[in-house]
Amino acid sequence: MKSLLLLSLLVLVPCVRAQETGLIVNSEGRKTVSLNGQWQVIVDPYESGYYNYRYQPSDNGYFKNAKPKSKSELIEYDFDKSGTLKVPGDWNTQSDQLFFYEGTVWYKKSFDYQRQPNTRVFVYFGGANYFADVYLNGEKIGEHEGGFTPFNFEITNRVKDTDNFLIVKVDNKRRRDAVPTLMTDWWNYGGLTREVKLIETPSTFVNDYMVQLQRGSRNRVTGWVKLSGDKLNQKITVRIPEAGVNRSFTTNASGMAVVDFTADLKLWSPDSPKLYDVFIEAETDQVREQVGFRSVETRGADILLNGRPIFLRGVCIHEEAPLRGGRAYSREDAVTLLSWAKELGANFVRLAHYPHNEFMVREADRMGIMVWSEIPVYWTIQWENPETLKNARNQLQEMIARDKNRAAVVIWSVANETPLSDARLTFLKDLVTLARHQDPTRLLSAAMERHYTNPTTQMIDDPLGEFLDVLGCNEYVGWYDGLPEKADGLEWKSKYDKPLVMSEFGGDALFGHHGDSSTRWTEEYQESIYQHQIAMLKKIPFLRGTSPWILTDFRSPRRPLPNIQDFWNRKGLISDRGEKKKAFYVLQRWYQEMR
Ligand code: GCU
Repeated sequence: MKSLLLLSLLVLVPCVRAQETGLIVNSEGRKTVSLNGQWQVIVDPYESGYYNYRYQPSDNGYFKNAKPKSKSELIEYDFDKSGTLKVPGDWNTQSDQLFFYEGTVWYKKSFDYQRQPNTRVFVYFGGANYFADVYLNGEKIGEHEGGFTPFNFEITNRVKDTDNFLIVKVDNKRRRDAVPTLMTDWWNYGGLTREVKLIETPSTFVNDYMVQLQRGSRNRVTGWVKLSGDKLNQKITVRIPEAGVNRSFTTNASGMAVVDFTADLKLWSPDSPKLYDVFIEAETDQVREQVGFRSVETRGADILLNGRPIFLRGVCIHEEAPLRGGRAYSREDAVTLLSWAKELGANFVRLAHYPHNEFMVREADRMGIMVWSEIPVYWTIQWENPETLKNARNQLQEMIARDKNRAAVVIWSVANETPLSDARLTFLKDLVTLARHQDPTRLLSAAMERHYTNPTTQMIDDPLGEFLDVLGCNEYVGWYDGLPEKADGLEWKSKYDKPLVMSEFGGDALFGHHGDSSTRWTEEYQESIYQHQIAMLKKIPFLRGTSPWILTDFRSPRRPLPNIQDFWNRKGLISDRGEKKKAFYVLQRWYQEMR
């Protein structure tokens, strides 16, 4: 039995060879040095800091941070005389000139670092939108594609005691083959949008681990611990003092240990979001992590949390900073947004349409809010392009790698509103298989398409539904599809005996704009949409969750209507200035009724 489990779990471990270091999970007890703050920047629309005039990559680009050594030497850039931008932060809301800017910006940060003997050093990025080329002291150390997941590079043998210069070329140009692709309904905020820091570890350290309840179990903890370094065969101990757990395991030759034990644990739930201090100790290293333990599964059309049916009272959220706009990145931003969701009566949030910053999921853990986390496979992706699939797979793996120990995260979503085709189905099935491999403990979903089978019947029979645990469905009855009353006569059917989360519904309203309930853009029209929607939703027998679009207004380049939208999508229940619209209270009343 043990060898079977060993086998099954070993397959799960991200396919990173032991000597190679994968994503370093953020845990307590690590020595880190923040590189946040003001960075010198050079805005480079023509990428002349990267390509020569023949459009070939230059060996002597801005990453060299060159300075003229004589009065006659020709150097045509100077970071130290250039402007600065704050990191973390998008560039669009830090400078009016960069508001619409899509292209390359070079970031430079100088730092000293005295590395302790027998240690290793990594530079860690919480996220950079969209493509990052990273250089240290003039040498390329790595690159990363995807604006919403973390990455790190080892700099142990490159870092100097003094005068290091870290240079990052960040390019947020949209591309047809990228993920997301050219068209989205959110602002393409560019830059080093999340924290940057140095992480120091022992030469052999606890690189990664997963400790979660086995799917469907309420007392069996299974997972793994992965060491990175040269002393890979070690005894490791998993301790949960509060639960009297002190179990030891042994890593194999590639630094992997399977963790498997039973324990009497207080389970995490929205009503009691219990987090335990979990210590992972090896002979050469130890880390501490706050982990909640809960099981989530489906049974027919029910979603079961810790074995009991639950309704996901939710709302969608974009990573738009509350009250100030721009890409949200801080703990305060997360607490503000999640507190508004709590005020709504929500026990669930759909983080759209990409992995949000780590503060969001860690605060959701603490506040007891279940999370739907999604990768930006959004609208019409290049399904037949193998590079696009590789990119989507990588973003999925990084999303799961970062948040796999968060009890709050109950659903991984692989796509949003993607048009039916065989190529699309093959692409998404590949992602579903990968996600199940990497994390068998959580539910899988996607925001799917639906269609009318007759004027009053909506059918959910997207072929993707067969491979998912939870059906997600977006509908805009009353906004893009008829008037609010149209919902009254609608019936919903599904081909699948699976739970449905209505993952989007709603309509736009400008806060303070009033009129009768059939006047678009007024609070009364939006209020009416919610009243008719809720009456319709209550009649859907397999509905087990709702996440209306959306908690707050958010910026979108597709919304230019003057004096109403002004490049804001106004479907928020709360305005960009934190003002609650009438519809907020309609939904709040329903959610309170359900508690
Ligand atoms: C879509 C989409 C969202 C978009 C919303 C809207 O369904 O998923 O990203 O913002 O509709 O049109 O407001």
